[in-house]
Amino acid sequence: MIEFRNVTIAYNDHVVLNNVSFTADFFEKIAILGGSGGGKTTILRLILGLVRPDEGNIFINGQDITVLSESQLRQPRMKFSIVFQEGALFDSKNVRENVAFCLREYSNYSEEEIERRVRDLLKILGIEEAIDLMPEELSGGMQRRVAIARSLAGCEPKMMLYDEATTGLDPLTAANICALINELSSGEPPQRRGFILVTHKVLDAARVADRYLYLENGTIAFDGDIESLKKTDDPELREFINELYVAKRV
Ligand SMILES: Nc1ncnc2c1ncn2[C@@H]1O[C@H](COP(=O)(O)OP(=O)(O)OP(=O)(O)O)[C@@H](O)[C@H]1O
Ligand SMILES: [Mg+2]
Repeated sequence: MIEFRNVTIAYNDHVVLNNVSFTADFFEKIAILGGSGGGKTTILRLILGLVRPDEGNIFINGQDITVLSESQLRQPRMKFSIVFQEGALFDSKNVRENVAFCLREYSNYSEEEIERRVRDLLKILGIEEAIDLMPEELSGGMQRRVAIARSLAGCEPKMMLYDEATTGLDPLTAANICALINELSSGEPPQRRGFILVTHKVLDAARVADRYLYLENGTIAFDGDIESLKKTDDPELREFINELYVAKRV
């Protein structure tokens, strides 16, 4: 369980999140929507303890992570796997080494075991044939898949964090990544591995999430399911979700 309690964070006097509170179970399928610079990535960074709030507390399974040292943060961080915005693969490493990275860092597996695990993951993501390729040889969609494989490899995450997992991809590839996100979070709560997807692509969010948060002026202006999202009378949010209706008309 994640709890944000009255979290405020500012960069150089620019308040990004202002007194934000919410709770989320690890099995939930959450989309955090909001405009560029709205603080979506910041929320993921706060969950991982990569940045600390100026005010307020963040609890992971009841433990306040805002007071933990770097080494103490290791444990709560293990509950999550993050796919960073833009994938962020290591350019100088091939697919095998990219995916193996966390296994080498965080486990004592033998070379054979690492190879087996890397191949299994690539197979699940449908990109086994790319194992010897370099990131520059991959399409954007394949890079995103490798990034997801790498984030799954490190540990057995309780929850996935996707930062703009489908942004910059063509509609078909974006749909494929959404299908993959659904697949990785199939199963029933409470065992299900849930996710937080942060995105400004409402249509993609609607393919995967069942709870929607909308960030506006540093606060959570909306928290609910797709039905109530569609009924919102917040003019800014209506504008934001407009493509849901446009898509329906096609
Ligand atoms: N390390 C930093 N130093 C200074 N300002 C920062 C830093 N990180 C983020 N910001 C600022 O905080 C605000 C929120 O950033 P954040 O990356 O969380 O937004 P976002 O919602 O993820 O945006 P996008 O949709 O463009 O990815 C932005 O105005 C950004 O410039
Ligand atoms: Mg971002």
